Amino acid sequence: MRTIIEPFKIKSIEPIHFNTREQRLKILSDAFYNPFLIRSDDVLIDLLTDSGTSAMSSNQWAGIMRGDESYAGSPSFFRFKDAVQDITGMPDVIPTHQGRAAEKILFSIMGGSGKYFVSNTLFDTTRANIEFTGAEGIDLLCDEGKHPSIPAPFKGNMDVPALKRFIEEKGAANIPLCIITITNNSGGGQPVSMKNIKEVRQVCTDHHIPLFIDACRFAENSYFIKIREEGYASKLVKEIAQEIFSYADGCTMSAKKDAFANIGGFLAMHSGALAQECRNLLVITEGFPTYGGLAGRDLEAIAIGLTEVVDENYLQYRIRSIEYLTNKLVDAGVPVMQPAGGHAVYLDAKNFLPHVPVDQYPGQALAGALYIEGGVRGVEIGSLMFGKYDDKHNLVPAALELVRLAIPRRVYTQSHIDYVAEIIIDVFNDRHSINGLKIIEESPILRHFTAKLAPM
Ligand code: F0G
Repeated sequence: MRTIIEPFKIKSIEPIHFNTREQRLKILSDAFYNPFLIRSDDVLIDLLTDSGTSAMSSNQWAGIMRGDESYAGSPSFFRFKDAVQDITGMPDVIPTHQGRAAEKILFSIMGGSGKYFVSNTLFDTTRANIEFTGAEGIDLLCDEGKHPSIPAPFKGNMDVPALKRFIEEKGAANIPLCIITITNNSGGGQPVSMKNIKEVRQVCTDHHIPLFIDACRFAENSYFIKIREEGYASKLVKEIAQEIFSYADGCTMSAKKDAFANIGGFLAMHSGALAQECRNLLVITEGFPTYGGLAGRDLEAIAIGLTEVVDENYLQYRIRSIEYLTNKLVDAGVPVMQPAGGHAVYLDAKNFLPHVPVDQYPGQALAGALYIEGGVRGVEIGSLMFGKYDDKHNLVPAALELVRLAIPRRVYTQSHIDYVAEIIIDVFNDRHSINGLKIIEESPILRHFTAKLAPM
């Protein structure tokens, strides 16, 4: 096979910081076994998130200088709006400071108790914003998506029969919105097929339920459609993205992912009336409609990022680099989500640490072990993030116990990735020495960010 190379050269570098195993043991203990509480200077390879961590291009940096900071009517806004419309085809574009601000506005309008928001899998902030209004978030993921080790091309698909049953049971009037997350971040970064999006669209149309796309990794999802779904091989990724959005009534977007921006997001939609309601909230929480929560320079960076991300050489390299790490781990017998997702490698902590019960948070324990072994920071996506308590304060665990190693875009080279593979394999070979954790302090919402834990 011909080598797929990074489709860029490096103009500016940033040192990374080395420390010793002994130092890391203390750092993790001081951080209460929660990687979110570690200072990033103490991390060697930071795979906590692919959000806001991209390397911007020289063009984006040039755009930063061009940014016009006028309060109203900035040309940067119009360039941003044109870029979003070019891909989504949606007339109303509302900038927000990041994805969750778009969610907060949308669900403040559409949410409320007694309502159900249905999805393939809601991301944690999306679910939290829904639940904050008193509504419920319902994940209806296809069966393939629930089995980490069984490969299938579109494990992010929604379970369409389950969607129909759910609508039948609760009544369409109680379901203000259906949201498809592309790619399905909390379910392994797995893509959703065009066929599935079309089928969900049809069910939504039949029941007058609007369909929104949680679009932050739309380009990665579009590339998977190109290489995996029949009939799309000769289409441009941009055309595939345009087709996806053509089936939706609107979208929320975190520009911190596939727009290569360090901050930013937006809402886009077809309904002018809904957009007006959103702008009414926007002005009291984010800002005037032509800047939302962003500086003009950020709008420029997003506009340029949206044109760069649909470049197929970039996407080929991007998807291949995730697959490269996944394959190395599979070859070493490490249990990982298969096939490789779009932005991250997901370790299956339940099978990695079968001796650690779910109420001792195997994902969190594994994330800690990776940090101690090699200064690699990942994030638990399991029962610490999504677990709930029943009436007797027993843990109701999440469906999957994963550790996500998200790869920042255009940041690390192949040798960094080889190093990460080495560390994971070393930890795997010594997995029986890893103990579970217990929570000693937690907050009621999004507890994984700030929870304090201790070894059992
Ligand atoms: N939707 C999805 C699917 C996401 O992955 C994220 C963020 C958001 C919405 C919220 O966007 O961060 O700009 O407010 N995901 C990041 C992550 C934080 O690490 O996966 P945001």
